Parts: sequence; structure tokens; C-alpha cells
Amino acid sequence: MALISVANADSIKKTAGDEARRHPLMLAENTAEPEQAVGADGFRLPPQRQKSTAPDIPPLASDKSPHDVAMAAEKGTLKNPYSYSTMDPALVEAGRKKYMSVSCNGCHGGNGGGGMCPPLSNATWVYGADDDTLFRLVSLGSDELQKQGYTRKGRENVVGPMPPHGKIVKTEDDLWRIIYFIRGNFRGDAKDIKW
Ligand code: HEC
Repeated sequence: MALISVANADSIKKTAGDEARRHPLMLAENTAEPEQAVGADGFRLPPQRQKSTAPDIPPLASDKSPHDVAMAAEKGTLKNPYSYSTMDPALVEAGRKKYMSVSCNGCHGGNGGGGMCPPLSNATWVYGADDDTLFRLVSLGSDELQKQGYTRKGRENVVGPMPPHGKIVKTEDDLWRIIYFIRGNFRGDAKDIKW
């Protein structure tokens, strides 16, 4: 089901500076380059060669690909090793940088507030709010998630597939940091925090 009209998708293509990284669902106005580190020779490093954005925060999860982790884990068992009980602003910021570096903002906006894609900052969660669902959804994409038996619960303004990112986000640890950012960026009511 294509809710994005063809005319709309075409106009996005024309304004896109970097068509290779574009997807019809990406925000037209998002022209910001993802933040990238610079190597010793002054050239930008590809995202996978960047050092952790928070080298002072030791990784709590593995460097396996999120795809492999999501495929191997039993349903309902994935849990962020970074505790949400007191949100660490440095870790939220580290997660935000990762989020930008893999272009989640292209579809969801810089603060996860949504654009052409569902906002990540409100209390409506399409498949559920828990860590296990979010980790799997981002890693495997919404089509594969549904194949694994996860069903649509909430409704957002956009109904379209979320592409798999479990090999674009390099490590399990990186994805948990991105999810930590999503938690830290929540703008809804405290009573709706169920994670
Ligand atoms: C090409 C556009 C696109 C990109 C890039 C993208 N997403 Fe999504 N995302 C979507 C769409 C579309 C949905 C809704 C899927 C559905 O309704 O089945 C979604 C849903 C989600 C949800 C669930 C939101 C909710 O309200 O329940 C989360 C969390 C999410 N994405 C995180 C991410 C993260 C993190 C990244 C980067 C690693 C990312 N997305 C990259 C399009 C995108």
C-alpha cells in the first residue's frame, strides 16, 4: 500500500542532493549530512571506521551485528543493558550521534519527532514500546518483524515498511545506544513510560 503519492516522491527525488542515500520516505527538507569523523589525512571516515562517539562510556553489549543478534534471540528476550533508571545525558548524546550517522533522521527527523515517518518521541508505538520490539524492528525491518509474529498495535500517520537496518547499524552496542537516545528523547507523558 503506497500512501506516499508518486508526485510527492518525485519532488523529493529532485531536491535530494545525494540520491544514492535517498529513499522515497525520507524527509525532503533533510539535507544535513550525517556527522562523520575525519581521519588523519583530513578525509572523512566512513561511519564504520569511526570510533565510538562516547569512548569514555565502555560498551555493555557485543560488537555482533544487530541483524545476527535479532535473528538468534528468542522472542521477547532482548533488553537494553544500559539502564534507564537514571538517564545519562552523555549516553543519550552518544546515541543521538549514532542515530544521525546512520541516517535514521532522514525519515524520522533529527529529534525523532517524525516527518514522513512515525515520530519516535510520542507514546504511540506501532508494534509495541518494549526494547525487544524496537531492537528487532530496527534490525530486521517491519516486514520481517511481522513474519516473526509481531503485530501492529498502534496507528501512526504513516503506514509503510521500515527498511531493515541490522547491517547498517554496525554493532549490537551501537543499536542499544540509539534506542537509549530514543528513550531519552521521549516527549510524552511520564505515565506512558513502560520500558
Ligand atoms: C526509509 C525511511 C526510514 C528509515 C531510514 C528509518 N526508518 Fe524507522 N520507520 C520507518 C517507517 C515507515 C516506520 C513505520 C513502520 C510500520 O508502520 O510498519 C518506522 C518505524 C520505526 C520505529 C517504530 C516507531 C513507532 O512509533 O512505533 C522505530 C523505533 C524506528 N522506526 C527507528 C528507526 C531507527 C533507529 C532508524 C535508523 C537506524 C530508522 N528507524 C530508520 C521508516 C524509516
